Amino acid sequence: MHKIKEELENKNILLGVTGGIAAYKALEVVSRLKKLGAEVDVIMTEAAKEFVQPLSFRSLSHNPVIVDMFSEPKQWNVKHISLAEKADICLVAPATANIVGKIANGIADDMLSTTVMATNAPVLLAPAMNCNMYSNPIFQQNLDRLRGLGYYLIKPDAGYLACGTEGKGRLPAPSRIVENVVEQLTKEKDLTGQQVMITAGGTQEPIDPVRFIGNHSSGKMGYAIAREAVKRGAEVTLITASTSLQPPSGIEIIQVETAQQMYESVMKLQVEQDVIIKAAAVADYRPQVVAEDKIKKDESELVIKLERNPDILAELGRVKEEKLLIGFAAESEDLIANAKDKLSRKNLDLIVANDITADDAGFGADTNRVVMISRTDKTELPTLSKEEVANRLLGRIIELLEGTGEKNGD
Ligand code: CTP
Repeated sequence: MHKIKEELENKNILLGVTGGIAAYKALEVVSRLKKLGAEVDVIMTEAAKEFVQPLSFRSLSHNPVIVDMFSEPKQWNVKHISLAEKADICLVAPATANIVGKIANGIADDMLSTTVMATNAPVLLAPAMNCNMYSNPIFQQNLDRLRGLGYYLIKPDAGYLACGTEGKGRLPAPSRIVENVVEQLTKEKDLTGQQVMITAGGTQEPIDPVRFIGNHSSGKMGYAIAREAVKRGAEVTLITASTSLQPPSGIEIIQVETAQQMYESVMKLQVEQDVIIKAAAVADYRPQVVAEDKIKKDESELVIKLERNPDILAELGRVKEEKLLIGFAAESEDLIANAKDKLSRKNLDLIVANDITADDAGFGADTNRVVMISRTDKTELPTLSKEEVANRLLGRIIELLEGTGEKNGD
């Protein structure tokens, strides 16, 4: 408790309150944050005022509550900019479908949406609404978009909702919201100063102008690593083959199509990296000849001769020097033995192995179940979200960078 208090003292928390029945719970959030020593500024939307009086927030936060964008300024600064700059973290609780939709689509038409757009602080959204609104695909797409852009979400609870139905959409208890704020504010930027290169997605090898040889990689694992690494302070370069994902913000992105293009980009930039993580699914072979025109069918068999692509990871292993090199091993049999073999064959520091035949892991899934194998130890993780796998992996990488956490071989 003492430690948390120390960490929240002098922190500026910007709380956005939007128009949902759960707005009253935000009062307790303010009260708890104040007790922990934080400075709290509250912005309410017009709709939020219908549920709770600004005076209640003002009394608890000891600060004026802002609603109107065009009210006479008391100081000579532009309010939405000054609050956006002052904030160490921006929390929106409860966040209605409306504010989530606005932020996800760049609409800035009131004090809260303009401030959220103007801030560089991490933004934490706590959605609360009717369960059908919550599961509406448009709303879910907006959440995915924001998650992909590095916004943090506090998942709603399931249970009895004010509209009389049961389902997912309840604003979590104020204590849990405060826990999330504390966790964000105390998160260590433990990769500050590290140059991290990540490859992601599945390469595509053209056969003719309309066809290619591809694979099932969704890119989700590599993108999650990129997002988490940037949040931990790393300077991230993402070399990405085909995915349908939104590129995370705050990183350098290089788009490639084929394994050869990925090889060239990786080799050009590898020298300046401290850590390279190869999460991409790279085609080992490509058509020897790419037809200039669309191949027409006839009655005979079609034979496409394939030639080898460079093994990017193996090449990196040859020139690696001091940098940390992390590979992935997607296996359908003998997971550990095959992964260990790749670790030594490609001169890696760590390999992340997953069994692609499992339902909860591998291609396309939002979860993954992996084993991290270094030269000296093996860590088996349970089924986790790809974000959490990314964080555990980055935690292990930091141990390797610091030369700590080496356990005895198994
Ligand atoms: N990889 C690479 N270049 C290739 C093939 C794979 O850099 N041409 C990298 C992948 O990004 C991944 C790791 O190697 O980090 C393992 O990929 P995987 O397809 O599991 O293994 P392969 O090396 O292709 O080995 P095998 O064919 O024996 O399974």
